[in-house]
Formats: sequence, structure tokens, C-alpha cells
Amino acid sequence: MDFAAKMKELFADEDRARDMARRLMHLAQNDPTAAAREKDSVLAFIRGPIEKHFRYEEEHLFPALEEHGLGPEIDVAKKHHAALRQEAANLESAKDTKGIAQAIYFAARLMLHHTNFEGDYIYPELSKEQWHALIASTMADNQ
Ligand SMILES: [Fe+2]
Repeated sequence: MDFAAKMKELFADEDRARDMARRLMHLAQNDPTAAAREKDSVLAFIRGPIEKHFRYEEEHLFPALEEHGLGPEIDVAKKHHAALRQEAANLESAKDTKGIAQAIYFAARLMLHHTNFEGDYIYPELSKEQWHALIASTMADNQ
């Protein structure tokens, strides 16, 4: 799976992001060997485009949204970000097929929860300009 190439659709179409996470969860549960082969691409995806997306949100969007009274929602979103970063570290250190498949399952489930949460509580609060800036920074080659 070429995760980087999925980026545009991922953040332009939340339903497809959910589908991708569900497919990974399904793969991890039903074919751990196939899931384990995705270790490097899943890690690259979390630490590349997803990390850029997280950092942009944390640096530019969350402070503005906190000022608009969304403190509790932003706290949850930040916890999701921290949990996914931790899960990436768990995935990196996982060695055997079962451990790798389990870490991929947990990471995909976190991505699914987080996409659902932000889609419901965060993104509706963004202006069109804020949304476009988020997509542009996520797609950018450089940090
Ligand atoms: Fe986020």
C-alpha cells in the first residue's frame, strides 16, 4: 500500500480515511502475516504525512480553537495525537508477526477514532481558509 499517495484523498474525504483504517484493522485481525508486511509503510505514513498534519494542528489550529472555547475537545485531540505517536513507537519496536499485526491494529483503530472525533468536533469549527491551510501543510514536502 502506498500510503503517501493516499494523502490527498485521505484528508479530502474522511470516509475514505475511515475505510483505509478499517481495512488495516481487518487485515491485522485476519492476515497478520500480510499486515506485518505493511509495517514500514504504516510507520512511514504515521511519521510523515500524519506527523505533519498533527504538528500543523498543534501549532496553528488548536491554539485558535482553544480561544474559541473548544479546550476540552482539543485536550482529547491532543491525547489522540500522543497515543498514536506512542503506538508508532510500539510498532517500530515490535519484532514478531503477532506483535506487529497487533500494533498495526491499535494504530489503525486510533486513526479511525481520531478521524471520527475531529470530523465531528474539530473540523466543523474550521474556516474554509483554515481547512485549506491544513491540507496544504499536510501535503507539503518540507516541514
Ligand atoms: Fe488531529
